[in-house]
Amino acid sequence: MSFSLDDKTRSSSNFFGGRREAEDCLLIIFGGSGDLAKRKLFPSLSHLFMKKQMPKRFRVLAVGRKDMKTEELLSMGKYSEEFRKNFVYIQADYSPAGIAKLKQACDQICAESQIPPNYLHYLAVPPEGYAGLAKALARGGLVHPPKGENWSRLVVEKPYGRDLASAIELDESLLSGFAEKQIYRIDHYLGKETVQNLLVFRFANSVFEPIWNNHYIENIQISGAEMLGVEDRADYFDKSGSLRDMVQNHLMQILCLVMMEPPVNLSAEAIRDEKVKVLRALRPLSPMTVPPMAVRGQYGPGEIKGQAVPGYRQEAGVAPDSSTDTFVALRLNVDNARWAGVPVYVRSGKRMGRKGTEVAVTFKPLPHILFNAGEQRSEPNRIVFKIQPQEAILLELTSKNPGQSFDLTDTSMNFCYSDHFDTSADGYERLLLDAVLGDPTLFVRSDETELSWKFLDALLAHWESHPAGKAFPNYPAGSNDPKVADEVLLVGDRWLDFSKWDNVC
Ligand code: BG6
Repeated sequence: MSFSLDDKTRSSSNFFGGRREAEDCLLIIFGGSGDLAKRKLFPSLSHLFMKKQMPKRFRVLAVGRKDMKTEELLSMGKYSEEFRKNFVYIQADYSPAGIAKLKQACDQICAESQIPPNYLHYLAVPPEGYAGLAKALARGGLVHPPKGENWSRLVVEKPYGRDLASAIELDESLLSGFAEKQIYRIDHYLGKETVQNLLVFRFANSVFEPIWNNHYIENIQISGAEMLGVEDRADYFDKSGSLRDMVQNHLMQILCLVMMEPPVNLSAEAIRDEKVKVLRALRPLSPMTVPPMAVRGQYGPGEIKGQAVPGYRQEAGVAPDSSTDTFVALRLNVDNARWAGVPVYVRSGKRMGRKGTEVAVTFKPLPHILFNAGEQRSEPNRIVFKIQPQEAILLELTSKNPGQSFDLTDTSMNFCYSDHFDTSADGYERLLLDAVLGDPTLFVRSDETELSWKFLDALLAHWESHPAGKAFPNYPAGSNDPKVADEVLLVGDRWLDFSKWDNVC
């Protein structure tokens, strides 16, 4: 049976499954005049609107401190007249008077546009504001009880705390106004098609599950390389660093999806329960092991695309003796029956020579190798998930070179998304729609966040109490393989050069 969307049936599929109605609602975007709202949220909403995936009746209420007109805010993007009609900007702060003004605006908009008071609160404000705002919304009558006739949801951006204690404190504050099931913690990597496909690849193909374990897998590498430096975010990044900014959330989520057990069903709770079990099985990071389980780096001056760029310590807003990590490399262990003994190498860095997020699963060699590869050492079998910017799954195999003898050659079976699909949709679009639909599957539960912080806390504390001093910078901007990363490798292992797969699609 085919299914198409029309004006009467505004619905969308929930995670891997049935279709759900998007109920009429009011989207209240705090930080409405800010960068995230303008760059990501409004364009995503406008795109969903064009695709007729928004509810039949909805309004976007952007809330900000700046005094500006709705038209002025929208003049920064390309939006249809129809979309603009659904959009209002108001200036309000988060004081009791400001929240009262907001409540009045919400009541008025809902009454005029015949929208029931279903509220999707999106906190696109600096994280210091989350706790106060969540409480203020509850006090101001903008949060319904979780089981009432109307709903309220709270979407929260990262950073979600900066260590375990602050994450717990934030959770407690949010939970004083909202129930856990009303809180949608965004990790935009979960909105990426290629990340979601990790689950489908693993659990919808019978050929991989039997070999997805320590009997057959040698090691796993997860890599997130960016060419961008700190840009104009030194204020945030210098207090954060790559471990907090990329590993605690995005790369740990990827790790969970690659290593979790099959969930009992596709419900949000079943999937998140399995991710939590992976986090629980992580061997605690000890700063004292040899080789070390974690190393950090920071970029010095270098070149990106032929252009000279300053070192991190020379960037505007960064302390000249900053010990903030702009690169990290880790060797992790998931100590459970499936994964015991399989090292998981994770690295992430800013100002690398290329952009790419990849996962590589390398298989063990056969116990008895028939073919003497001699000098032509062949690569092991490997599956490479190219998450972005190219989207692909590659299966690396060994084949026979045509000719009389059994000469071996490395070959690859490539599945490039672009050959089959249009996957240009931004992660935000998918996640915004899921929040409107009330599907929390692709959002992070509080225990996931807390366990991830718990795992990294000791390392963060160790680094904080041991300033890097002259050890930084330890890689030039534009490098692809900071040498310091080699320190975490076990004998015989090496980091993969993912740039060799840059042009497969
Ligand atoms: C954000 C980080 O969460 O993710 C940024 O704060 C980083 O520092 C960004 O650049 C990377 O996202 P993407 O989708 O470009 O890989």
